[in-house]
Amino acid sequence: MTENGPQRVLIAGATGYLGKFAVLAFKRAGYHVRVLTRDEDRLYLPGPFTAPALSREDMDEVFVGKVAEPETLKGLMVDIDWVFSSVGISRQRDGLTFEQVDYQCNRNLIDLATAAEVKGFTYVSMQGAENIMQLAITQAHEKVVAELQQSGLQVRIVRPCGYFSDMGALYDMAKSGRAYLVGDGSNKMSPIHGADLARVCVETTEGEKLEVEAGGPDIMTQREAALLAFDVVGKPAKITVIPIWLARGLVQLIGLLSTQFGDLAEFIVTAGEIDGVGPPRGKMTLQEYFMELHAAADLPTGAS
Ligand SMILES: NC(=O)c1ccc[n+]([C@@H]2O[C@H](COP(=O)([O-])OP(=O)(O)OC[C@H]3O[C@@H](n4cnc5c(N)ncnc54)[C@H](OP(=O)(O)O)[C@@H]3O)[C@@H](O)[C@H]2O)c1
Repeated sequence: MTENGPQRVLIAGATGYLGKFAVLAFKRAGYHVRVLTRDEDRLYLPGPFTAPALSREDMDEVFVGKVAEPETLKGLMVDIDWVFSSVGISRQRDGLTFEQVDYQCNRNLIDLATAAEVKGFTYVSMQGAENIMQLAITQAHEKVVAELQQSGLQVRIVRPCGYFSDMGALYDMAKSGRAYLVGDGSNKMSPIHGADLARVCVETTEGEKLEVEAGGPDIMTQREAALLAFDVVGKPAKITVIPIWLARGLVQLIGLLSTQFGDLAEFIVTAGEIDGVGPPRGKMTLQEYFMELHAAADLPTGAS
C-alpha cells in the first residue's frame, strides 16, 4: 500500500501460463491490477496445463492493446506504479522471433514505463542464463535485463527454472504410451508450478533482492520425471531417447526452414542437455501436479 491507496501494477503477459497466476497473486496481495492483453476473451478461458481462467473480479482494469505495436498502447501506463512482464514466446506461433517478442515487446514496455515515470519493473528471465548465452531466447531475455538495469527504473528480475506447464508435455506423452527424451534424460531439474512462481514474483517485487532464482520443491532427472508421469497414468514406462547428435542435426535442418522454429528447437535440445536447478521456492510437487492433470482428464490414477 502507498499513502494514495494500493500500488497499481500493470501485468503484461496475462493470458500466458505464468501471467494468469500472476494476476491472481498480485490481486490477492492487495494490488490494483491493470491487465494488458491483445485478446480479452482469452483471459476468461482456462490456459493449457491448468493455467486458470480469470474472472472480471480478478482484475481492476483490462487494457486491450498489442505490446508489439506501441501505437496501440497510448494511456497504458497512466497512474501505474509498477510493471510486471512475463511476455515472451513459448506456445505462440505468430512467426515472430525471440528478438521481436521477448526483447522488442519488453523494450516497448520499458520505453513506455520510463516515459510515464513508473517506479519499477519486475521482469521474468530464466535461471542459469549465463550458461546458455548462445541461444537466441537467452540473448533476448538478457538484453531486456541489461536495458532495465540502465533504465533508471527500480528493477527486480525473477529467474525461474522450468515451469510445470512444460512438464505437462511429459504427462501427455506418458498418457499416449511413449515418452521421447532429448539426450539420455540424466540432466537434473527442479521445475516449479505457476502459482508458486507467481507468489515468488510478488515477493520479489516487494523485497530488497534485485534478482531471485526460483525452482520447485523436487530435484529430479528428466528420466525420473517421465517415469513419474507413467506411474501417475498407470502405464508401463516406454521411453525413446533421441540422441543429442541426431537432435542437433534436426535443429540445423529446422533452422534452415524457419528462424523461429530453429531457435525454439535449439532451446529444447539445449534444455535436454543441461541442468536447470534453482533454490526450492515452490511447494507443489511434480507428482501432485501430474495427479491434478490426471484428475482433470478424469482418468483412474495409477500412482500409489
Ligand atoms: N516455460 C518455462 O519453463 C520458462 C522457464 C523460465 C522462463 N520462462 C519465461 O517466462 C515467460 C513466460 O512464460 P509462459 O510459459 O507464461 O509463456 P506463455 O504462456 O506463452 O505466455 C506468454 C505471454 O506473452 C504474450 N505474447 C507472446 N507473444 C506475443 C506477441 N507477439 N504479442 C503480444 N503478446 C505476446 C502472450 O500473449 P498471447 O496469449 O496473446 O499470445 C502471453 O500472454 C517467457 O518469457 C518465458 O521465456 C519460461
